[in-house]
Amino acid sequence: MGQNYATLRVPASTSNLGSGFDTLGLALSLYNYFTAEPSDRWSFEIEGEGKDLPKDDENLFARVYIRACEVFGGKPFPLKVKMINHIPTARGLGSSATAIVSALKFWELFQSKELSVEEKLRVAFEFEPHPDNLLPALLGGFLICAVDEGVYYQRLDFPEDIKIVVCIPDFELSTKKAREVLRKEISLKDAIYNLQRASLLIGSLCKRNYGLLKEAVKDRLHQPYRKELIPGFNDVLESAYSSGALAVFLSGAGPTVASFCLEEEDKVGKAMVSAFERHGVRARYLSLSVDKEGAVFTKPPA
Ligand code: HSE
Repeated sequence: MGQNYATLRVPASTSNLGSGFDTLGLALSLYNYFTAEPSDRWSFEIEGEGKDLPKDDENLFARVYIRACEVFGGKPFPLKVKMINHIPTARGLGSSATAIVSALKFWELFQSKELSVEEKLRVAFEFEPHPDNLLPALLGGFLICAVDEGVYYQRLDFPEDIKIVVCIPDFELSTKKAREVLRKEISLKDAIYNLQRASLLIGSLCKRNYGLLKEAVKDRLHQPYRKELIPGFNDVLESAYSSGALAVFLSGAGPTVASFCLEEEDKVGKAMVSAFERHGVRARYLSLSVDKEGAVFTKPPA
């Protein structure tokens, strides 16, 4: 990289949190780093996860940047981008949201203009029409998101003592495929079931009433259908609960499974890995906390 580069750090995220489908998102202390500078053609150097991603203007970052130039104006000069990716791709941890958010932040930097959250999301939705990874990647923290023509969100404190243990299986699952198995119509009974639990979940986290979390993350809108795509899902859930997890759910569209834990992080992580292995799936776990900063310009990682 030459003299004119800048590095942006963008967090991973876990979304849905069980009952809060397409609504709740939590930024995590696992990051992708994007360094970019103006160039005469689009190019990408990728370290870590996602080495097979496109290295030209087909890369998601480039497509979003070019679209931002069309929508908001500005010179669509190409960029030379270096990505150091710690977030595994297509695992339900918001890696594509980091590329989308990053492209918009670099548009602001190189065009010397600031976009509102709503403006950023308007372009972002053309590439990923769900706010629950995008808003945590952009803003950090615990977010309740709602969208129609507008974007409405509330950022809440997340309990400091809860760790998020993510168990990442060794296979990818595209969000497209994980949405194709969902039902287009749902019963009033199931809608009420999720509404009750998502509300309970937010209240329980705000009031630190952890005894309710296991019930509060239960879901009837997406996990019952998606679990068919994830060998051993029920066993992973049960193993995490019997090792002391407070709450266990599919991370985003999956296949990663996330647990909220107080002190049993390693025990829960190892139990989830073993459960996946019993079903012939290799997996690893990470114990993470909540990222509160979102996308920030920083130094590249050492
Ligand atoms: N809420 C989304 C889903 C997250 O579960 O499909 C993935 O963008």
